[in-house]
Amino acid sequence: MERLRLRFGIIGTGNFGPILATFIGEVADVVAICDPSPNSRSRFVESTGLKVAEFADYQSLLETRDIDAVALTGPNFTHTPIAVAAAQAGKHVFCEKTMAPTVPDCWKMVRACEAANVNLMVGHKRRLRLPWARMIQLREQLGQVAAISIVGYFDARPDDFKGWWTRESESGGILALSGVHELDWMRAMCGDVEAVSGVAGPQVDRRYDFSDSIHVMLRFRSGAIGFLGVSLSYPLRRYRQVYGAEVTCRHGGMRLVTSFQEVNLHWKSLSESEEHHERFEEPGGDPVGANEALRKETRDFVRWIVDGTEPCLTWREGLRCVEVIEAARRSTKQSGAWIPLPLYPELEMK
Ligand SMILES: NC(=O)c1ccc[n+]([C@@H]2O[C@H](COP(=O)([O-])OP(=O)(O)OC[C@H]3O[C@@H](n4cnc5c(N)ncnc54)[C@H](O)[C@@H]3O)[C@@H](O)[C@H]2O)c1
Repeated sequence: MERLRLRFGIIGTGNFGPILATFIGEVADVVAICDPSPNSRSRFVESTGLKVAEFADYQSLLETRDIDAVALTGPNFTHTPIAVAAAQAGKHVFCEKTMAPTVPDCWKMVRACEAANVNLMVGHKRRLRLPWARMIQLREQLGQVAAISIVGYFDARPDDFKGWWTRESESGGILALSGVHELDWMRAMCGDVEAVSGVAGPQVDRRYDFSDSIHVMLRFRSGAIGFLGVSLSYPLRRYRQVYGAEVTCRHGGMRLVTSFQEVNLHWKSLSESEEHHERFEEPGGDPVGANEALRKETRDFVRWIVDGTEPCLTWREGLRCVEVIEAARRSTKQSGAWIPLPLYPELEMK
């Protein structure tokens, strides 16, 4: 008898695995998990209440024949080997951001999934969250973006980045810790990036093997210019209080102000005297619009597999963000030199 619901394995059951699994569970069956840490697996089972087969290594999970797809929610450096093995085992792959530490790693994932004819999506939910999606929509009224600026100075100590997060070769560095969501949204607003310049500040927090502050300038193919500033050691703000945005468009502007409880969007066209104000809240105090965004990602991924419906995201968004991050890293080592994209023209698809 034909099965009606797809069967998923979750690979990586730390902080984010159980969250994503809950949303996958709304549209598919989560039947297996894998994590080398027994504590992590137990916490997953306790927090989700799901009945799952447990594996300590991903190869054993991938040998399970009746699993259709896997979600990769382990450390960023594990995404490439696991995605490649999953594709070779015929499983579709939903990979959490950040796709991988380097662009060549991303291309290995893409090539393996294409060769095996399985789908590959990278979860970049920011562009799907209501206030940010509304700004993308407002461009129809306000015109093409000319300049966009985002500042993310916050205190990362309570977020407790440790282990693999603190090592550039395993995480991808500062922008993979924080800033990758913003880069994806800036791309959704302005299109492809043409060149990247980055400068790193002196290190404040010694737990990282990279500087904990960076300023990045972006030049988009559209002609728009972008700025993203990130500091992980700014004691006056927490994560959810930062990453608002200021946007100048051809016919007006937008300003997004974030806080713990709500997100406020102000916008105005050049011909208007009064600004518009839209307020967004999330019942239950979760990050505004995040649950609906995760729901859309996972629903789209399942529909893409089941009937080929074009999804809201594929691997492209994930790879292009890694490309900006890698270019910024490279630029910081060359005194902020402009690095043209694509970074690896020889790896681009024909
Ligand atoms: N979309 C979002 O908003 C969002 C939010 C948080 C994290 N993430 C992403 O989710 C991923 C995981 O982040 P996290 O915060 O849960 O990290 P984490 O460190 O809390 O958890 C990672 C888990 O992976 C396990 N692991 C390590 N090696 C493994 C392997 N080879 N196979 C299977 N499991 C392995 C670890 O034991 C740990 O339990 C990262 O890619 C991160 O960027 C996305």
